[in-house]
Amino acid sequence: MTENDLPQVLDLQRELAFQDWNEKQFLSEIKASYAYCVVCEIDGKIQGYAIFHLLGPDSELLSIATRETEQRKGIGSQLLHAGLDQLTNEDQCFLEVRDGNAKARAFYEKHGFKLYNVRKKYYADGEDAALYVKKL
Ligand SMILES: CC(C)(COP(=O)(O)OP(=O)(O)OC[C@H]1O[C@@H](n2cnc3c(N)ncnc32)[C@H](O)[C@@H]1OP(=O)(O)O)[C@@H](O)C(=O)NCCC(=O)NCCS
Repeated sequence: MTENDLPQVLDLQRELAFQDWNEKQFLSEIKASYAYCVVCEIDGKIQGYAIFHLLGPDSELLSIATRETEQRKGIGSQLLHAGLDQLTNEDQCFLEVRDGNAKARAFYEKHGFKLYNVRKKYYADGEDAALYVKKL
């Protein structure tokens, strides 16, 4: 992911309405030495992105998204593996997801993430967060 990708990344995020980061937040991720930010671009159009933090021995998947029309075609899996491949100094990868986000939870579970805790009323609207970890 580069600065030039941000208009399309913001557009994708708006389309999915699953998080609300502004351009400045994405920019600081791109610039952070501990962050790995990746996009999936097909014929010049960004169809997905993912952001990881590498903080050896731990890492975190902060965000992953595929454009609605392109979901369930393997793009999310490719983005996830692109990030996991970077985790050479890390022992585990954490993430948190809304309790009701069944699609994402199925996706993470398919890729070997295990539920280890639930944080009650974690989100501003009162929804719980499901916390997952994948041992590397
Ligand atoms: C989670 C997400 C990134 C997966 O991306 P994707 O490109 O569809 O992923 P893939 O095609 O590589 O993987 C598909 C797997 O995800 C799960 N999945 C995806 N869509 C699903 C759905 N509608 N119902 C159930 N499981 C689903 C399944 O495990 C599926 O595997 P299967 O097809 O063998 O059953 C995508 O659904 C998304 O962008 N969701 C909105 C944003 C979001 O919630 N991000 C996560 C929170 S940060």
